[in-house]
Amino acid sequence: QDLRIPKIASSIRVIPDFPKPGIMFQDITTLLLDTEAFKDTIDIFVERYKGKGISVVAGVEARGFIFGPPIALAIGAKFVPMRKPKKLPGKVISEEYSLEYGTDKIEMHVGAVEPGERAIIIDDLIATGGTLAAAIRLLERVGVKIVECACVIELPELNGREKLGEAPLFILVTSDAA
Ligand code: PRP
Ligand code: MG
Repeated sequence: QDLRIPKIASSIRVIPDFPKPGIMFQDITTLLLDTEAFKDTIDIFVERYKGKGISVVAGVEARGFIFGPPIALAIGAKFVPMRKPKKLPGKVISEEYSLEYGTDKIEMHVGAVEPGERAIIIDDLIATGGTLAAAIRLLERVGVKIVECACVIELPELNGREKLGEAPLFILVTSDAA
């Protein structure tokens, strides 16, 4: 076990009953305040993906925009934002995913990636897996190979990884959903 992981885990604040009763919110803003934990988090991902022929780091709005760009810079890949609907100004492709009530969408600019590129998808957390599964579908539709999805935190009880198909999932910390 990587000795940096316990410090990363303990830097994440858990806030009960946010945004509603029964939810144990995993707050990564306290990880960002801990300069050592934040650096170690980025370093672990960079060590894993550097030199693997990855040209695309895709990050999911909003919290994937925090962890994705420093990884992209360090491994020499481009950063591709996957945004919530109606934010990107150019031509987009979009994918819907289901939430507890209703659906949401993420969008990516057409032309941001080329068929045959190799990508990792970064987010802070996997819960039901709906968000990452939509990100995978977006990239696969345009012929990009998903090398791996990477998150800081997994809530394993929700079995989100089962939604990811063939794409492997790498996580640093597991946490109970409730
Ligand atoms: C949160 C989290 C992940 C997603 C995981 O994002 O940052 O992106 O939920 O949930 P899932 O595995 O069930 O899809 P959210 O859209 O709540 O907010 P954000 O804009 O702050 O990232
Ligand atoms: Mg999110």
